[in-house]
Order: sequence, then C-alpha cells, then structure tokens
Amino acid sequence: MENLDVTLIEPRLKHPTIFKHFDELIDGESFVIHNDHDPKPLYYQMIAERGNIFTWEYLTNGPEFWEVKITKQNSANATDTIGEMVAKDYRKAEVFRKFGLDFCCGGKKTLEKACEKKGLNVSEVKSALAEIENQESNTSEDYNSWELDFLADYIVNKHHKYIENSHPMLYEFSQKVARVHGDRHPEVVEIANYYIEVAEELNHHMHKEEMILFPYIKELVNAKRNNLPLETPPFGTIQNPINMMEEEHLSAGGNMDKIKELSNNFTPPDDACNSYRVLFAKLKEYEFDLHHHIHLENNILFKKAVDLENELLNA
Ligand SMILES: [Fe+2]
Ligand SMILES: [Fe+2]
Repeated sequence: MENLDVTLIEPRLKHPTIFKHFDELIDGESFVIHNDHDPKPLYYQMIAERGNIFTWEYLTNGPEFWEVKITKQNSANATDTIGEMVAKDYRKAEVFRKFGLDFCCGGKKTLEKACEKKGLNVSEVKSALAEIENQESNTSEDYNSWELDFLADYIVNKHHKYIENSHPMLYEFSQKVARVHGDRHPEVVEIANYYIEVAEELNHHMHKEEMILFPYIKELVNAKRNNLPLETPPFGTIQNPINMMEEEHLSAGGNMDKIKELSNNFTPPDDACNSYRVLFAKLKEYEFDLHHHIHLENNILFKKAVDLENELLNA
C-alpha cells in the first residue's frame, strides 16, 4: 500500500496530488496519507468532488501527526436487484426514490438494467449509493479534540444537511402511508402530523444556529486564535441563544419520542407494505441522527463555547 507524505508537498499541490492518487486506484485499493494536521477538510472536498465512494480510516489521530487510510470502494453488487439492495439496506430506498427508480413493484431488476430503462447514468446512481453506505462509518470521531469552528461546520455539513436531505422522502412516505393505511392503523396519521411538526421546528432551529449562534462561536474562536477584542453580540451573552436552542432540542426530541411510542419503537406491523417498513426504518435512523446531533451541540459545542466566551470576557 502506498504511503503519501503530504507534509512534503507544496501547499497548492497537496489536494490535486492526493486526488490524482485516488483517481488511479481501482476498487478496493487503498493508500495512506501522512499529515501534520487533521486532513478532515480533504474528506469534505473528496465527498463534494468524487461522491462518497471511499472509506476514511484514521490509523493515527494526532496530536503530532495524522495518518489516514483512504480506500476506494464501490460496493454496489452487480447481481443484486434494486429490490434486494433495499431489503439489505433500507437507506438505499432514498437514493432510488430521488432518481425515480421503482424499488417496490418494479424492483426485480439489477441497477444496470433499471438505469438503462430510465436513461440514467449508472455511475451517478452508484456514487449516491456509496455515499449512503459510508454514512455509518463515522462513529469513532474524536469530536472532543476538534476546534469549535470546525465542529460547527461539521454539524452543519453532516447533521443539518442530513435533516434537509431526509425531508422529501420522510414527508412523501409519511403522507402516503397515512393516506393508504390510516384506516387500519390510525397511529400512522398521528405519526405523519408529528413528523411535520418536528421538521418545521428543526428547520427554524437550524436556521437560527447557522445565522446567529454558529457565526458567533466562530468569532469567539477567531478572537482567541488571533488575540482580538471580542465585540458584545446583540443577544448579550452566548448563554441566551444557547438556552433557547436547548429548549428547542427538548421539544424536537419530545416529538420524536411520541413518534417512537406511536410506532411501537419503529416496529412495523405484520401486514406493513414496503413503504411502511421503509418509513419506520428511516424514522429510526432520523431519530438516531438527531440524538447524535443534539449530543454534539449540547455536550460539546455549546458547553465549550460558554467556557471560551467566559475565558475571553475575563481575560
Ligand atoms: Fe444543529
Ligand atoms: Fe441544535
């Protein structure tokens, strides 16, 4: 496996060189980059420019140097039908829905055949599938060691985007299941209504974080890093918007608890169709992501931002 020492590459050539190495890999091959800081920005650039068709594994995670093993991975199995792909990993339903591929009644085709019939570019669909597959490989991040400005960006890039991207599917499926199965299972109508409430409150909530609170946290980091004076924000101290955000977390979490209860802990009934099952599985994933998102904010980002503001005000 090749080792690439990024510290020896001229700054403006670092990323192009890494991309060149990546592009030359065939599926399943890896290389290791060695760097003197966390190369996480590269991770986002690679997702943006290549799609999430790689795994990213820290072999060494600081504090003096970082080694990351990057493996090219295109794991859509050519012999699986798209119906089988959804059965193995329900999250793929979202990708097929986005591309207008029918995984339910017309699901007995391979990905290649289904794309051909629809006139779609199969590699585009494959990178979207690989991106979904890679989403769970991020659980061992050491969030506590990250700079707060980076953590704020990470929360927006990962969790706020996740909520936004999940909305079309969750809205469509919850409405459809309520319409079709509401007579026999009245709780799905309530679930659809609670989902709308959660989605609307999170939408306003994330907007406030992105427009007011997170920019101020970045100002705090910048003031500390560059020894700059801190300007008093219009909201007084950071504790005020944080109190509001934490109350909103409680409210969204409470509504998700109601969905969890009504759905019998996201367990579909025996007579549930594929859409019903996908809806519950997706809601379960959504709840998991929301809890993780709120944990990062309440327990790490907000807590450390309060400490940092205190430190700067008392300096
Ligand atoms: Fe957030
Ligand atoms: Fe939040």
